[in-house]
Order: sequence, then C-alpha cells, then structure tokens
Amino acid sequence: MKIGIIPGDGVGPEVTREAKKSLKTACRKHNIKYKMIEYPWGGNYYLKYKEALPKSGLDELSGLSAILLGAVGHLDVPAGILEKDLLLAIRFGLDQYINLRPIKLYPGVWTPIKDKSPKDINFVVVRENTECLYAGIGGVLRDDVAIQEMVYTRKGIERCIRYAFELARKRERKKLTLVDKSNVLTFGHGLWQRVFKEIGEEYPDVEKDHAYVDAMCMWMIKNPEWFDTVVTCNMFGDIITDLGAMIQGGMGIAAGGNINPEGVSMFEPIHGSAPKHAGKNIINPFAAILSTSMMLEHLGEKEAADSIEKAVISLLSSGKIQDMAAGKMGLSTSEIGDLVADAI
Ligand code: IPM
Ligand code: MN
Repeated sequence: MKIGIIPGDGVGPEVTREAKKSLKTACRKHNIKYKMIEYPWGGNYYLKYKEALPKSGLDELSGLSAILLGAVGHLDVPAGILEKDLLLAIRFGLDQYINLRPIKLYPGVWTPIKDKSPKDINFVVVRENTECLYAGIGGVLRDDVAIQEMVYTRKGIERCIRYAFELARKRERKKLTLVDKSNVLTFGHGLWQRVFKEIGEEYPDVEKDHAYVDAMCMWMIKNPEWFDTVVTCNMFGDIITDLGAMIQGGMGIAAGGNINPEGVSMFEPIHGSAPKHAGKNIINPFAAILSTSMMLEHLGEKEAADSIEKAVISLLSSGKIQDMAAGKMGLSTSEIGDLVADAI
C-alpha cells in the first residue's frame, strides 16, 4: 500500500504523528507492506509558495492507495483559501463523493446526553461530499448581491443514496434515515426524495425513515438510539456531524473518511487545526487514530483496522483518560499515541 500523509496545519502534525504510530504497529502486526509518502501542503506551504496544492498534486495523490490528512487552517491565511484550494480541491478532484462519519459513543467516554450509553449512540452519517452549497456556483454583484446556489445532480444524489443503502444493508439494524428539508427546499430536496424512493425499491430489506434536518437536531439529542444509517446532503451533513461529534464525546474522537469507492479515498479527523492548542502536546489524537482504522478497513484490512479500534476501546475503558478535552486528558498526545500502539 502507498499511503499519502498530509499533516497540514495547527495540531494536524501532532495528531498524524500519533496516527502513524498506530498505522505502523497495526501493519507490522498484520504483515501489511506499506510505504508512507509525506506531503508538506497546508498553511505554511501556501505562505511560502502562494499555492495551497501544487499543480501536480492531484496527479500525485491519484496514484496512492489512500490518504491520511491531519487538519487544515492557518491563522495567517484568510479563511476559505486552504479550505477551497486544498481540502475541497482534493475531495472534488479525486471525486470523493461520500463523507462517511460514524457517530459512536465508546465505553468510558462521557456524553453530555443524560442517561445515554454506547448502546444508544451508534450510527453513521453518509454525507454527500461533492455538491449542494459546496458546489461553488454563484457570485457577487457590486459587492452587495451575493448568490450561492444549492446544486444537485441525479448522478450525485443517486450514487450517495445507493452507497447509504448498501451500508445500511450490511449493518445489523438495516435502517436508513434520509435527512433533508424537502418541506421548504422543494426543488432540490424534492429530487432527493424521489431518488430515495426509487432506489429504496431495490432494498426491500432496509427500513426507510425520514427526518427534516431541524427535527433531526432535536432527535439526535433526545433519541439518538433511533438512528442507524443516515444519509443527507453536503451542507446538512457538515452541520449535523459536528452535533454528532459532541454526543459521541467531542471533536477529539470524531473520525471520518472522504470516500471514492472506485478511486482514492482520504481519511481525516472531523476537527480542525485548533491553532491555539498547536505544538503543546495536549490535543486528543483519537480522531486521527480512528480515521487510520477507517482507512485500513476501507483498504480491505479489516483485522488491522479492528486491532486499532480495539486498542482505542481498551485505553478508553481503562480509566486512564480523565477527560476528552484538550489539556484535560491527564495524558499527553504522544502518551496516548504510545499507549494505543502498545495495546495494538
Ligand atoms: C468538515 C469541515 C470542512 C467542511 C471545511 C473545513 C471546509 O468543516 O470537514 O466538516 O465544511 O466540509
Ligand atoms: Mn464541518
């Protein structure tokens, strides 16, 4: 396997450093041959070379087995540049049309939701990852008129919904919830509704469910146990997965994957670059470590993936981690990385 590593900015390099320890250990244990190739892209690279991703960047990445990304976002680079020209450029450029975000409360992790335990919070969000308000269609007229269009294609919706049905079918509960705002966004989300219904006919074994996105925010807090697999558009997926991260114990543990089932996928923690915590060895690396586990599973190395997840679970249940928040864990970033690697 050829794994590309983009540590990125802020705490990105620290969390990827720890994720690499797990990757190395799991690969050694399961006899997986791999090569890591590191790319210096991110804020500092941009400030030096005035480009977020070199012209040859996408070609380079498209020859890899998978990519592991730390975080992007730099205090000296205006918001929007690295997001668009690096992160979204890779997601779109490699057609990573699924953003897969498990919302899973692990044993030993505190959730702010009263009386809920790991058996109640265990679902996965399939976020469409190339369209919607992220399509970049729109413009500004005389500074005062701004148009940002929510664009959907049948192709984009169909492949996303099909992926979600396939995933739901493989999970124990076999239930898929479509989250949209079809009562107001009647054009765009009307199309989501139609496609969901059509494709759903091919999956009689999967229970179908629907929630408007505002109500979804309510149910995720009140009754998270209702959900198993959730499919939604790019913008709503962005928002509800931050909410999801909070109920699973915080940004420090929420992992995700930008997936192109036929191409090269990129795995990354949901959290950002958190510049105020950078370089202090106090940030929680679990999200990056769990993203590595997702990457191995995606590459067909289920046992290696499981060995990382099990190691994380054993450390979380050991009582050694006092809190999931940066600086309050009772252990440093590198100590956690070492303990997970040891447990593997
Ligand atoms: C995420 C992030 C990105 C997004 C930003 C950094 C562009 O919030 O991965 O959820 O909006 O998709
Ligand atoms: Mn987000």
